[in-house]
Amino acid sequence: MRILVTDGMDKSAIQTLIADGHEIVEQFYEPDQLGAALRDFNCVIVRSATKIRANHIDECKGSKLQLIIRAGVGVDNIDVKYAEANGIKVMNTPRASSDSVAELALAHMFSCCRFISAAGATMREGKWEKKAYGKGIEIAGKTLGIIGYGRIGQSLGRKAQALGMKVLAFDIFHIPGVECETMKYVDMDELLANSDFVSLHTPSIDGKPLINADTIAKMKDGAILINTSRGTNVDEAALLEALNSGKLRAAGLDVFSEEPCKNADLLNHPMVSATPHIGAQTAEAQKRIGAEIVDVIRNFCK
Ligand SMILES: NC(=O)c1ccc[n+]([C@@H]2O[C@H](COP(=O)([O-])OP(=O)(O)OC[C@H]3O[C@@H](n4cnc5c(N)ncnc54)[C@H](O)[C@@H]3O)[C@@H](O)[C@H]2O)c1
Repeated sequence: MRILVTDGMDKSAIQTLIADGHEIVEQFYEPDQLGAALRDFNCVIVRSATKIRANHIDECKGSKLQLIIRAGVGVDNIDVKYAEANGIKVMNTPRASSDSVAELALAHMFSCCRFISAAGATMREGKWEKKAYGKGIEIAGKTLGIIGYGRIGQSLGRKAQALGMKVLAFDIFHIPGVECETMKYVDMDELLANSDFVSLHTPSIDGKPLINADTIAKMKDGAILINTSRGTNVDEAALLEALNSGKLRAAGLDVFSEEPCKNADLLNHPMVSATPHIGAQTAEAQKRIGAEIVDVIRNFCK
């Protein structure tokens, strides 16, 4: 196959695909050039930077494009139904990055507990604010509410229990056999009312925020919100208000309603720990994603 890789990919996976006899072109295309470019390829592999919309699919109708692979979990940057209605298969790599995203959620939890993001920033300005940042809290013994107990949610749940936390999970599906002394499924209101930390791990729910002024009001005073799922799952204006009023202690955010995030009030808030949508971007996850893509292509070519 002629394969276009638009947003980068693990080098050893590229070498394996070349050894399998495929031709690989690594090139990013601006949205206005993407549709025409796709006509020359059987397969395109994207991460999140490249968005494949209906107009791109229209532009390459009747060409040899057969397969779109999203190197990652969320396929919201691809018009999946439209692609499939036009005979183009869409695949992703759902398992490869679960531990990486779960570890980043944990990193934000620690950062929020101990002011790691804000304290580091002030030290770069030559300050030594031992008193201001000497009011940390521990994770052990606290309750973590996980909304969306799928692959990433469960990975985070296991790690949190190992750190001495209790886990409450809300999900529309319940997996038999995962509940135990330190993990219990509850409804959304019970989770919000009893969790010291709330971490989001659902897909985007029709672009509507799960966490808004109403749901924040149901949370414990001083709770910490973590979002590594999708930015649209949180109403950022309501979050900012809750941080300013002290209703919420802190927030750890990897994803934003608009990316790159331009919400300076949110990013500069001393109780916000922020990263630029890097949940899946570890060396290990990128290697696993590469290996999963090789499997997808080998199965497709069978
Ligand atoms: N920050 C990053 O870089 C990064 C990387 C990978 C994935 N993600 C995000 O994390 C999300 C979760 O990934 P995953 O691999 O765990 O997906 P998953 O499909 O394994 O799990 C999602 C879970 O959410 C549940 N769910 C769906 N709608 C719900 C609702 N309305 N209320 C409660 N639960 C609901 C599902 O039943 C499922 O158990 C992805 O959809 C993606 O948006 C972010």
